[in-house]
Amino acid sequence: MLVGWGGNNGTTLTAGVIANREGISWETKEKVHKANYFGSLTQASTIRVGSHNGEEVYAPFKSLVPMVDPNSIVFGGWDISNLSMADGMARAKVLDINLQKQLRPYMQSMLPLPGIFNPDFVAANQGARANNLIQGTKKEQVEQIKKDIREFKEKNKVDKVVVLWTANTERYSSVVAGLNDTVDNLMASLEKNEAEISPSTLYAIACVSEGVPFVNGSPQNTFVPGLIEFAIKKNSLIGGDDFKSGQTKMKSVLVDFLVGAGIKPTSIASYNHLGNNDGMNLSAPQVFRSKEISKSSVVDDMVASNPILYSPGEHPDHVIVIKYIPYVGDSKRAMDEYTSEIFMGGKNTIVLHNTCEDSLLAAPIILDLVLLAELSTRIQLKAEGQDKFHSFHPVATILSYLSKAPLVPPGTPVVNALAKQRAMLENILRACVGLAPENNMMLEHK
Ligand code: NAI
Repeated sequence: MLVGWGGNNGTTLTAGVIANREGISWETKEKVHKANYFGSLTQASTIRVGSHNGEEVYAPFKSLVPMVDPNSIVFGGWDISNLSMADGMARAKVLDINLQKQLRPYMQSMLPLPGIFNPDFVAANQGARANNLIQGTKKEQVEQIKKDIREFKEKNKVDKVVVLWTANTERYSSVVAGLNDTVDNLMASLEKNEAEISPSTLYAIACVSEGVPFVNGSPQNTFVPGLIEFAIKKNSLIGGDDFKSGQTKMKSVLVDFLVGAGIKPTSIASYNHLGNNDGMNLSAPQVFRSKEISKSSVVDDMVASNPILYSPGEHPDHVIVIKYIPYVGDSKRAMDEYTSEIFMGGKNTIVLHNTCEDSLLAAPIILDLVLLAELSTRIQLKAEGQDKFHSFHPVATILSYLSKAPLVPPGTPVVNALAKQRAMLENILRACVGLAPENNMMLEHK
């Protein structure tokens, strides 16, 4: 169940999964395209499982352990705009028209449930599409979401529900002692209908209460301390924040490479422009600030890893700019300039220009987040000498490869470097089937 189901990401993912399930192909001026899952770690990547007679052997990522098949997912969710999924897909202007025409019959009867809306948390320009709303107090709104989840499960006879936020980015909510700093204070604030509890936190409260995993694909601080405490208490999975789709993914590769190569990035300037509804919402300064925070912290662990290059507290200049340019629609442009100090006073400048439909990057990531969140609820572990297995910590670090600002359990390190995040995932899957972690020593060839 997606929050913001009718938006660009929600409609693109739903359309993409239906197209794959139905084996749809469509003609463009270039060729006949077939539905695929390119960009999905679980569906379109492989893992090295070993070597045999000197040949490397790879297996599909999804085949290592039993994972949910995307074809068997039933989509549902909420949106503050009442357009059907077919009309939402047309509004998004992401997929080719010949594909849209074939998908329309499957999607026109899919209608998003009314959502929780609070104009104070998003840009004023979002009010125009808000025509499908849950009324009542915040407590009543939470109760409605809980009811929606239960009814969805019952009606569709699904085994499990995973909820993922792909709705508008919200501004940060204030974290205040007595308001949302502990689970008790958060619940008391809910009773009092406190203004500062954001819609995303309300959905999260509903999910944790129902024991349903909740993943946050946007940058805002949905997971205030009281909510995290609630999830830990209920042992209910929460994960996020903010899909790591384009510019930040490149950054978490490039800076890791530079710092790992003994080269010192000293300035990183990142510009974006985009013309979709996400871009329009991000044009409000208080909302942009959430994105800026989430995009900024990505190089921290890499910089901190190398005291030969950086003295304590030293950090590269790092600036992020996002502008709304309606004409480019969902086709986001990201321009980055990395300047680094190299050998003997030299300077190296790398410039990247990345153009891509934003939702086609995000949709496979959403799929992976949902599949891995579900998988994570089924993995148990115990240390040597312990007699009882326990589940993973409810704060799901296993999702960090897919998250711009990975949420980690309080007091644990944040890893942003993409290769390390992938290695973590890969080695966990290997461990699940009794394979040793990949150490890349290749001693068998030495
Ligand atoms: P969008 O604006 O097209 O879709 C968001 C949808 O959420 C809209 O249909 C809107 O009506 C709905 N909505 C807003 N508030 C809601 C609420 N309280 N309850 C229910 N529905 C609500 O945006 P898009 O492009 O789909 O992106 C979604 C989110 O994903 C944004 O926050 C964006 O920052 C984030 N994101 C997107 C990435 C990408 O590559 N596309 C990457 C990283 C994050």
